[in-house]
Amino acid sequence: MAAQHLDVDVHPSVAAGRCPVDHGGDHHGYRPFDMKDPFPSYANLRHDHPVMYDERIGYWVVTRWADVRAVFEDWETFSSENAQAPVRERGPEAKRIMQEGGFTAYSGLSARIPPDHTRIRAIAQRAFTPRRYKALEPAIRANVKASLERMLASPDRTADFLAAVAYDIPTITILTLLGVDPGLVSTYKRWSDSRAAMTWEDLSDEEQIPHAHNLVEYWQEMQTLVADAHAHHPDSLIGDLVATQDAGAEITDHEIASLCYSLLFAGHETTTTLMANTIRVLQSHRASWEALVADPSKISGAIDEVLRYSGSIVAWRRKALKDAEIGGVPVPKGADILLVMGSANRDEDVFAHADQFDIERDDARNHMSFGFGIHYCLGNMLAKLQNRIMLEETIAAVPSLRLVEGADIDFRENISFRVPTSVPVTWEA
Ligand code: HEM
Repeated sequence: MAAQHLDVDVHPSVAAGRCPVDHGGDHHGYRPFDMKDPFPSYANLRHDHPVMYDERIGYWVVTRWADVRAVFEDWETFSSENAQAPVRERGPEAKRIMQEGGFTAYSGLSARIPPDHTRIRAIAQRAFTPRRYKALEPAIRANVKASLERMLASPDRTADFLAAVAYDIPTITILTLLGVDPGLVSTYKRWSDSRAAMTWEDLSDEEQIPHAHNLVEYWQEMQTLVADAHAHHPDSLIGDLVATQDAGAEITDHEIASLCYSLLFAGHETTTTLMANTIRVLQSHRASWEALVADPSKISGAIDEVLRYSGSIVAWRRKALKDAEIGGVPVPKGADILLVMGSANRDEDVFAHADQFDIERDDARNHMSFGFGIHYCLGNMLAKLQNRIMLEETIAAVPSLRLVEGADIDFRENISFRVPTSVPVTWEA
């Protein structure tokens, strides 16, 4: 099925890059791609300029919880069709490589709009059965235990937790769920890195070229997976989707391949980050870690609080289909909007002492890290399940875990994904 781009005129104030509030070139410290510590700039924006047109990126930046939620909720005014659009236009060489390589992938769900979104989501949701999750749980636990054992064999009792545990496990899980060879982790990580870079990073034309080749390979493999599922009827999520189609469900092969293209990215990148952030944040709030060691029944609440305090995705996009208002600020038809969930999650109007990490907080689940409304993350249960298992096993195996003293953890530059580059840890003998 063809992509559903709506023909929306661009309002002159957007074209001219004008904001109704004059910020005189001062963006309150906000740097869209800088993920090191964006939280002080988010607080400035919430306070001084909660709906700001940022001419450097061409997006209206929305930072208050109530406004972010209202935009997510009103899908008829604010469409998700730009959610997977490249933030920087593709260069001519990347375009040529992708066109000649037959790259026609479109978003599985997140950038689709009703009625197609409603139809495909209902079919995808049926394939995400509790039976499939339950079947995965023992393998997830065994993989976590094996990764921890390998990590703990390190002779100098130091490791990068991200590389040692968080990197592989969610990828093996989603490959297994879809019925793809779990030995292909590094291939899917390479393709996923390219997808994240090509969509949400600030790449030059030259830098885009290797990623364009990877995306062509990735998309060709998705089409092969669907063709194989038709031929062999595997007991997997792709097998289920193809069987649903055979039974009369209205979904094309291209849509199934696009769903696979989405799941084989969304289904691990963000969970790897959640695992890395869980260890990073708990270890930098050591009393919380010790509270979990003493009472692992607090793990679920702690995971919600990590999602609130340090979400894997801190900003997500929408487009205004008509002239509208966000928090009393007029926003023109055609406006591209950046909903900063990382800021909404620290909004003091909703969360008391929002900058404090508190695993006992009873309203942490009001975070917006999985989005909200009709596109609410389809994989949220699977992400939390894996993170819970990771935390249970890590607490049991290595309660003395700590961050390496003085470790200065960096984050990759990106407009949406806040990904630490490493989580250096150590432990007692
Ligand atoms: C910590 C882990 C994860 C985070 C933070 C996360 C975050 C998100 C966010 C922010 C959205 C957009 C929601 C919106 O537009 O309102 C989304 C959508 C989605 N996520 Fe996740 N996600 C995670 C894990 C997963 C996993 C494990 C899967 C699959 C197994 C998955 C599959 C999807 C899909 C298919 C959508 C699109 C849903 C739709 O448009 O109807 N996600 N996720």
